[in-house]
Amino acid sequence: MSDTHTIDGDHEEPSRRDFIYIATGVTAAIGAGALAWPMVMQMTAASDTLAAGSIEIDVSKLEEGQQIKVLWRGKPIFVRYRTPKEIAEADSVDIATLRDPQTDNERLVPDFAGALNPKILVMIGVCTHFGCIPIGEAGDFDGWYCPCHGSHYDTSGRIRKGPAPKNLVIPEYAYISDTVIKVG
Ligand code: FES
Repeated sequence: MSDTHTIDGDHEEPSRRDFIYIATGVTAAIGAGALAWPMVMQMTAASDTLAAGSIEIDVSKLEEGQQIKVLWRGKPIFVRYRTPKEIAEADSVDIATLRDPQTDNERLVPDFAGALNPKILVMIGVCTHFGCIPIGEAGDFDGWYCPCHGSHYDTSGRIRKGPAPKNLVIPEYAYISDTVIKVG
């Protein structure tokens, strides 16, 4: 439940593997301190500026099996470093069985060298049903679970079960170096 509520002010602590950043147009770097506790970056610009802005996220310190959340335009962005098992599960799905058919590769963008990097998955962390924030590493498909009405997303963020009509949305983003992505 902590993943679902911390963004909007609930005081439950997130797990050590799931960090929250409130980024404000500055690079959200993942440092050693952030591995112990979630780091909240202070707001440094007017909200209207932030709403139109982009954010840069340094994923170089993200470790396999970890996820961070960065607030962008008022929405949480999930950045997950997927495990080989998660990638294999995402790849093994027959997309003809999906409510919102998409291959895992279609949910990735080329990295700085022009190749797809299935390890890093970037999504808007908002359930496509009524907008709750799903919990990571949960649900029947080991991906994300939305507790509001029971939507299960797989390790690619695709809807697999429950009322949500669409996959978790992939934001507009690009790699601007080997380890930094720019969202927006
Ligand atoms: S808002 Fe997620 S299942 Fe309804």
